Amino acid sequence: MSVFKGDVLAGRVALITGGGTGICKGIARAYLRHGARVCITSRKREALAAAVEELSRETGGEVMYAQADVRAPEQLDEAVAATVARFGSLDTLVNGAAGNFLAPAAALSPKGFRTVVEIDLQGTFNACKAAFAALSESGRGVILNISATLHYFGTPLQIHASCAKAGVDALTRNLAVEWSGVGVRVNAIAPGPIAGTVGVDKLVPSGMGERVTSQIPMGRFGTVDEVASLAVYLTTEAASYITGAIFVIDGGQSTAALGLLGAGLGAPE
Ligand code: HXC
Repeated sequence: MSVFKGDVLAGRVALITGGGTGICKGIARAYLRHGARVCITSRKREALAAAVEELSRETGGEVMYAQADVRAPEQLDEAVAATVARFGSLDTLVNGAAGNFLAPAAALSPKGFRTVVEIDLQGTFNACKAAFAALSESGRGVILNISATLHYFGTPLQIHASCAKAGVDALTRNLAVEWSGVGVRVNAIAPGPIAGTVGVDKLVPSGMGERVTSQIPMGRFGTVDEVASLAVYLTTEAASYITGAIFVIDGGQSTAALGLLGAGLGAPE
């Protein structure tokens, strides 16, 4: 069930990197349900083909895929060209492709650090560049960058992803300023732990779920649909004056005084 009108994204064409799985597959699903046409990208052709079949069956919407590694600008150029060839235009870009693993800074190799920064940060820049001409031509371009809240703190074992996502926030603000003049809004969504995603599977060791949710004022993980609803809102004309903003969606996790919450002082008697 969605609170938005069914056709609220009718006429929009979106390219979603990392759209074959997790949060970004959920955003693709929500976009399709609200009338947008969608191209999803990732490195894995098999996962993309399966996701397109599933999304098409579930929503009846027009969805395609383009295999592209966000570290390869020419592959993103091809994905943009294929989307415009199929759907006639491109007005929305969601940057969701990301990589992550747990590693202590002292043991993390330069290559490991570089790999995550190249996917998360450089990859976001590459996709924005590849889509810029089409987005500005549309006169109502929207970019949504999927960030995180890791870098609001010194999150252990996450130096690579934290630095990358801090860069994504900087990129969001910078492009919002530079591209407002050509009608492109640029915002970011910063999710906390979202159930059923690769991020939570990788970063929350099994058996640790309850310890993590005890640190979240709302007492639970978020859902993919909740993040997708925020993405739909930010893409519609209802958000027409919003640019350069970073929307945290984490059940209050990054707002809470965690020491107190962990000591059981966070809830009313
Ligand atoms: C330490 C590691 C490592 C590990 C890789 N490396 N895995 N270091 N521990 N577990 C380092 C090694 O130095 C390795 O170099 C280098 O990274 C490159 O690894 P590759 O496997 O060759 O790279 P690649 O195939 O490009 O894969 C990238 C990846 C992978 C990031 C390592 O995990 C990936 O593709 N993930 C995509 C899906 C994903 O992780 N999604 C989760 C996003 S979660 P050597 O020399 O060993 O080859 C997220 C949410 C954050 O973003 C917020 C959550 C709340």
